[in-house]
Amino acid sequence: MQITENIVTFSFNGKSFQAIEGQTIAAALFANGVKKLGVSRKLQQPRGLFCSNGRCASCFVSGNGMDHVLSCMSLIENGMIIQSNESDPDIRRKIDGD
Ligand code: FES
Repeated sequence: MQITENIVTFSFNGKSFQAIEGQTIAAALFANGVKKLGVSRKLQQPRGLFCSNGRCASCFVSGNGMDHVLSCMSLIENGMIIQSNESDPDIRRKIDGD
């Protein structure tokens, strides 16, 4: 039996990478040597994988325009555009333009 792996392409902070379909975003980034996923709120220090099971929120990234995606729990998708989280979200963002 031959196992074939589907390769997907994604970008992180504008740089193109490849991953294996079925990997989490964090695993795909880690496999490509990316360990810094953002910065901490208060001290602006590098954040990355900590618990790897969706409990600590240390691995937030923005994926396909959605803020605060848990990269350790979300699967990578072909063509996905991922950005590191460098600041808090604007919680007062206007939704309907008012
Ligand atoms: S590493 Fe803790 S939630 Fe992802």
